[in-house]
Amino acid sequence: MKIVMPGGTGQVGTVLNRELTAAGHDVVVLSRRPRRESEVHWDGETLGPWAEVIDGSDIVINLAGRSVNCRYTAANLQAMMDSRVNSARVVGEAIAAAAQPPRVWLQMSTATVYAHRFDAPNDEATGVLGGTEPGVPDYWAYSVEIAQAWEREQERADTPHTRKVALRSAMVMSPDRGGVFDVLLRLARLGLGGPVAGGAQYVSWIHDRDFVRAVEFLIDRGDLAGPVNLAAPGPAPHRTFMRTLRAAWGMPVGLPATKWMAELGAFALRSDTELLLKSRRVIPGRLLEAGFTFDHAQWPEAAQDLVGRVRDGRAARAVRSEPSAPH
Ligand SMILES: NC(=O)c1ccc[n+]([C@@H]2O[C@H](COP(=O)([O-])OP(=O)(O)OC[C@H]3O[C@@H](n4cnc5c(N)ncnc54)[C@H](OP(=O)(O)O)[C@@H]3O)[C@@H](O)[C@H]2O)c1
Repeated sequence: MKIVMPGGTGQVGTVLNRELTAAGHDVVVLSRRPRRESEVHWDGETLGPWAEVIDGSDIVINLAGRSVNCRYTAANLQAMMDSRVNSARVVGEAIAAAAQPPRVWLQMSTATVYAHRFDAPNDEATGVLGGTEPGVPDYWAYSVEIAQAWEREQERADTPHTRKVALRSAMVMSPDRGGVFDVLLRLARLGLGGPVAGGAQYVSWIHDRDFVRAVEFLIDRGDLAGPVNLAAPGPAPHRTFMRTLRAAWGMPVGLPATKWMAELGAFALRSDTELLLKSRRVIPGRLLEAGFTFDHAQWPEAAQDLVGRVRDGRAARAVRSEPSAPH
């Protein structure tokens, strides 16, 4: 298949590109700064020659959006909103204008669309959307607004020959450098991977290989459209999640952090505590109902697998950098 991936140069795009290319598909990435032959220039907001790549393609997977790993200043929040809404709109325009439109448009969304809650998990049918929860910072509602505006842009696109799916994804855990798993593992290895603010908040996650399998499943299943949660069925409270990660690496200690320590840490890392403190208790209702099975459904096994791959990667790099023996 010919698969077009706007915004495919980031963490999730790297995971998808690697696996889909290995499976024999022809993947073309749209980037504002193309660096490889398989990358085509676009600006993420206006139609241009790039739209020809979409015409005649089989699948579009739009991942574009300003990173959420930043300080939530007014300017950054606006950039997060604009980059998502504009890119989804213009992808829709390109599909609508295509003589041979793709059969499926998978649009990235986020599990953050659901409410901060502890009492019950959110699936697509019974889940509670966020934005009105009491006792959380007002600006958390804006992340929900971004997610809703993003999905709305896909819904309103006039693309009658293209099935549309919104991927309400949890954090994608892959061993790649710079990804979310890398950051959490680094904290755990430094002995800093203890509970934050009590650690009762849930962490929803999905193993990278299950993420790719779920994407392939959604491409194949012509009966599935609309929002779909991409999250392992076993979200865990932050406290347990980090303890399990420490155990997988073999690090006995994990210093706990209070809310204000997390604020300081997030400030130092130019990030935001919403990413740590919001309870994202999300489960894959529609995927399970449709018969999808997870290879990595529970965190203890998934964490072991990911740690093993990180260690294998380090060992392989160490072998490569060893000076060769004199002849
Ligand atoms: N990572 C996760 O676990 C996760 C979970 C749920 C949802 N998501 C969402 O899924 C999407 C992809 O995630 P990711 O982790 O791969 O993100 P990422 O690493 O930040 O990559 C996103 C890509 O979007 C492009 N981009 C950035 N700013 C843009 C702008 N202003 N206009 C157009 N394109 C822009 C960039 O590509 P170029 O610089 O090459 O143009 C970048 O490589 C994001 O929207 C993210 O919010 C991610």
